[in-house]
Amino acid sequence: MRHGGEEPTTRRSAILGLTSLAAAAASRAVPAQADFALELKPPLRNRSAASGIKFGCAAAAPIAQQDAILQEKIASEANIFIPEGHLKWEFTEPRPNVFEFEGPDSIVDFAARHDMIMHGHTLVWYAAIPDWVARLATAKDARAALERHIETLVSRYRGKIWAWDVVNEPIEPKDGLDHGYRNSIWQRLLGIDHVDLAFRLARAADPVTPLSLNEYGFEYADATSRNRRQDMLALLHKLRERNTPIDCFGLQSHLDGHKTFDHKELTEFLRSVVGLGYRLMITELDVNDVELRGNEAERDAAVARHAAEYLDIVFSVARPLSVSTWGLCDRDTWMRQYFKRADGKPLRPLPLDTDLNRKPMWSVLANYI
Ligand code: XIL
Repeated sequence: MRHGGEEPTTRRSAILGLTSLAAAAASRAVPAQADFALELKPPLRNRSAASGIKFGCAAAAPIAQQDAILQEKIASEANIFIPEGHLKWEFTEPRPNVFEFEGPDSIVDFAARHDMIMHGHTLVWYAAIPDWVARLATAKDARAALERHIETLVSRYRGKIWAWDVVNEPIEPKDGLDHGYRNSIWQRLLGIDHVDLAFRLARAADPVTPLSLNEYGFEYADATSRNRRQDMLALLHKLRERNTPIDCFGLQSHLDGHKTFDHKELTEFLRSVVGLGYRLMITELDVNDVELRGNEAERDAAVARHAAEYLDIVFSVARPLSVSTWGLCDRDTWMRQYFKRADGKPLRPLPLDTDLNRKPMWSVLANYI
């Protein structure tokens, strides 16, 4: 049953047990489009006990903006909280050996209060680094910076973080380096050994927490995906040969709704990854509808179909440890900042809409979690 745009948000809030938050919802003044039958289904986090697969989502806004409604929604749907930015280097160590823990600590508290676990994102990345890191000039300084940063963060949050994305996005075939390695500050100063070093440092600081290598861009029947699959697999092989302590492979899963999956190649890629002993996690799922045609309902349906097709492929190879989306509701998606539709309409890549109502993509997730 779909309700019209004039349904007062307060009624939805009451039905969802959010009456105390109704005033804040009303001030948002967005017409509700709640499908009440869908809204009343048990939240995704309740399903993980039976399925063994945790549902997570990344967010920046709820903590930063103290958005009580969104906080409530995240806590009711998700087992895992991923800080979208707060653990990145530019925030945690903005100056050499000066660490800022206020943001991440507040997220750890938020997660603990709501009986959620926290996924640490991320220790070593080419982006979101402060100027002083971008200007590092010698291998010795780069190594010292990595040692101090990883040791400090991983030790501080030992026992509070469920899994760490230790290295994020180490390949970029378009950068033109041998083997498709990304031309990052770490690669330039330390070579590909920086990946092995980072994982060993993380393992030394925390012997038990699962450690993950996180990457995107393997899904489609095009040269970009093909090169990324090939280069990623070669790197994963190499890391296994060196006994690098990596437990999981994080599939970011930023999908493009208008592209065609390469079922066969993606399946073979995932089989090879699993065959090397890596556990899969889906870490940043969203479906970009920048090129999708149609009205909102048609786009939502296409986004859901695309997500289902993808989850089918991944689950046919191995059940991932977790499925996480990069944001929970369309209002807060990073994609609205980076991609603009030709018709000027805002993107709708996530399981909840701008008004926090469940969309068809939510139902797809509920089928897999
Ligand atoms: C993104 C955040 O969502 C944005 O807010 C920020 O401006 C840039 O980073 N892959 C990743 C994430 O691993 O860290 C990125 O997050 C999205 C792509």
